[in-house]
Amino acid sequence: MPLTTLEPLKQPETIRVPEVEKGVGCNFSDYLLVPDTSLDERNAAAKRALGERAVILGHHYQRDEVVKFADFRGDSLKLSQQAAQTRAEFIVFCGVHFMAESADILCQPHQQVILPDLNAGCSMADMADIGQVEDCWDTLEQIGDLRAIPVTYMNSTAAIKAFTGRNGGSICTSSNAAKVMQWAFTRGERVLFLPDEHLGRNTAYRMGIPLEEMAVWDPHRARGGLTEGEIRRARVLLWKGYCSVHQRFLPEHVDRVRREHPGLRVIAHPECRWEVCEKADALGSTEGIIKQVAASPAGSQWAVATEIHLVNRLAKENPDKLVISLDPNVCVCTTMFRIAPQHLCWVLENLVAGQVVNRIEVSDDTRRWARVALERMLSLA
Ligand code: 13P
Ligand code: SF4
Repeated sequence: MPLTTLEPLKQPETIRVPEVEKGVGCNFSDYLLVPDTSLDERNAAAKRALGERAVILGHHYQRDEVVKFADFRGDSLKLSQQAAQTRAEFIVFCGVHFMAESADILCQPHQQVILPDLNAGCSMADMADIGQVEDCWDTLEQIGDLRAIPVTYMNSTAAIKAFTGRNGGSICTSSNAAKVMQWAFTRGERVLFLPDEHLGRNTAYRMGIPLEEMAVWDPHRARGGLTEGEIRRARVLLWKGYCSVHQRFLPEHVDRVRREHPGLRVIAHPECRWEVCEKADALGSTEGIIKQVAASPAGSQWAVATEIHLVNRLAKENPDKLVISLDPNVCVCTTMFRIAPQHLCWVLENLVAGQVVNRIEVSDDTRRWARVALERMLSLA
């Protein structure tokens, strides 16, 4: 990935945002009760005032009231790469914590990354704690002669990405997981797939690896809950982690939508359970789902198994098609949803006032090794 170093932009002489000049708005509590609609003007004014000094990124699962201010909309890798290619000093990531960390790993030295709400985490990323992963690795090393290669999904903490880089592994995304796993098997005889059990299983199964040659490593049990024989037999060790949004989709949802809408096609994100992916007509990352639905002919009917904000946006952007959620009970990423227009306004107006709040900064050593793992993936493209 080209990471050219650009000259930082010159600061404008004066920036005028009335609320900031009045001294209002540098404490988040001042924003809590301001209605979303009245924040539109303030967000737009702060964005205008910052101009090219700030780039706002919006993940596909982000709510519309926030995503409408995004300069780029996309998945987390694409967004981090796009931001790194701008001259912006400030990268405001409307997404979750691991995404902001990834942006900080990939950005240029003069850029600072901001996460509008520090509580916007990811349940899946949090399921692989670095201490647990190191314990797992030590156990595998003690068994000896296992030649395992870590393959880590983008949706992971910077610490796990760095662990992957240090131990000869690579990052993957939901669209290139098979290519990365293939690469890993040229280097070792088994893969330790982190932190999403479902993406690991769906990918390996489609590569022709039978379910019997996979084993789930449960970090809350001694030796992952596996016998030495089970570990030795497993070509893929799947970390017991999952996305709380995608694992809500069930095979019976597929049966129901097919009964109710004959001719409808089901497309699922590969973070969904294996049983759902097996029943689906197609799988796709967020970008893959968007492309497949957009490319389908007018009149097509789709049930989509992914986060509801993306499903609703797809329905709006494809008015000639029927696009519904696979699960009638709204599947929302509650942590992503934490980023509200109030948080965006707070961070932007603080930037206008010359203050950086909620900066996400990865340590130098973590950044170095996480980049090694990311660059291994990018070199396979
Ligand atoms: P992708 O955007 O890479 O498909 O990932 C989906 C997701 O769960 C992001 O948190
Ligand atoms: Fe994490 Fe799932 Fe939310 Fe993505 S949708 S940020 S994987 S909890």
